[in-house]
Amino acid sequence: MTPSDVKATLSFSDGSPSIDLPLYKGSIGPDVIDIRKLYGQTGKFTYDPGFLSTASCQSTITYIDGDKGELLYRGYPIEQLATQCDFLDTCYLLLYGELPNEQKQKDFHKLVSEHTMVHEQMQFFLRGFRRDAHPMAVLTGLVGALSAFYHDSTDITNPKHRDIAAIRLIAKMPTLVAMAYKYGEGQPYVYPRNKLSYAGNFMRMMFATPCEDYEPNEVLVRAMDRIFILHADHEQNASTSTVRLCGSSGTNPFAAIAAGVACLWGPAHGGANEAALNMLEDIQRNGGVEKIGEFIKQVKDKNSSVKLMGFGHRVYKNYDPRAKLMRETCHEVLGALGLENDPLFKLAMSLEKIALEDEYFVARKLYPNVDFYSGIVQRAIGIPVSLFTAIFALARTVGWIAQLNEMIGDPEYKIGRPRQLFVGSPRRDVPPLAQR
Ligand code: SDX
Repeated sequence: MTPSDVKATLSFSDGSPSIDLPLYKGSIGPDVIDIRKLYGQTGKFTYDPGFLSTASCQSTITYIDGDKGELLYRGYPIEQLATQCDFLDTCYLLLYGELPNEQKQKDFHKLVSEHTMVHEQMQFFLRGFRRDAHPMAVLTGLVGALSAFYHDSTDITNPKHRDIAAIRLIAKMPTLVAMAYKYGEGQPYVYPRNKLSYAGNFMRMMFATPCEDYEPNEVLVRAMDRIFILHADHEQNASTSTVRLCGSSGTNPFAAIAAGVACLWGPAHGGANEAALNMLEDIQRNGGVEKIGEFIKQVKDKNSSVKLMGFGHRVYKNYDPRAKLMRETCHEVLGALGLENDPLFKLAMSLEKIALEDEYFVARKLYPNVDFYSGIVQRAIGIPVSLFTAIFALARTVGWIAQLNEMIGDPEYKIGRPRQLFVGSPRRDVPPLAQR
């Protein structure tokens, strides 16, 4: 970051001495005011619940321009990566900062494919769950359990450990997600096949059975790969911030990623794709397009807790570029499957059109986000709704681990430890029991 020649001067109306705070410029995006010395110089904290105006770190990985609806991974626009690269190229880019050349691409694909199996003992963890356990509950447990098997790559101060742990996590997430799915289905696990592509291998582990050969549908494999690319990273979102904060204690990468999985599960975050599809199915069940007006009225009613799931975003105040690409993928997949008239897709497009013309959404700059269409694509591919967020976690693992490694690799990093505005009871003495 570059020191700006502009200073911020903080003055107080109670006559307390004012102080100058340095500003720093990034390569693109808003400048930051460095408040690291604020408490030491003024005895005051800043106050920013939800971190609406707070930069927690400096990063070189992902940049979002919320007003323009722009998303860059290491400077490359998501629209170009999603159409010209595959997910493993995107993983290489997020991890190492540049797209691989042909040789590096071959080496990286081989390296990842050689780490796709999990320890045979891992399957016994699944047996502790009910068959109808939510896949995110299973995945949170399985990812955390990985740390029990890889003591040779849990010292995050060792760059070699960080690198092998990153490869292991990226390589094993598809295997773990497929195992969680097969366990719920009561079907045998399918071992990874190293000669297949990353997305092709995942689709085979999900849908193959011992009873017949599995023939992948290349359109669906490509769609799955694009879904992975679109979900790979997204700067300091809630789950990435969780991974950074968790990892800042020096814990092992598997534990930090398990914390990210747990955070992503929430319906305000990665759980929104499951919630968005359930919302569409509810509207469909209760009358379909004719009922959209009534539903929108509920959403606008402050007394109802109904939200238009898959809409709105803390950063995007324009169309989420991933939602546009996801809608295109919807067309491709539904077309390939002869489902162009899929009622849910038509309902989603009608809902989007009506919402985008409604003052409530326009005034609040609420647009479709990545979760609005991703559920329709995954449902068409045959992914059960309850697995949508696990697939989001699979894809986001590379972003989490790239951000974690960036933090740990920064010699200035410290354990994260926010302060608070205390509004509770001042000091008081414990009364005897008879006086309580
Ligand atoms: C992801 O951060 C990331 O980058 C996340 C993510 C990633 O890749 O990591 O992009 C993935 O999590 C996408 C978001 C998925 N979540 C949803 O689709 C759930 C529905 N969306 C909302 O819960 C909400 O929009 C958030 C949580 C996404 C953003 O919330 P903010 O930024 O805290 O905004 P807010 O809740 O303060 O909303 C501002 C106003 C409020 O109305 P007023 O109080 O001003 O009258 O907009 C309203 C909100 O009630 N609002 C909505 C709404 N989202 C916001 N009203 C109806 N439906 C919605 N979806």
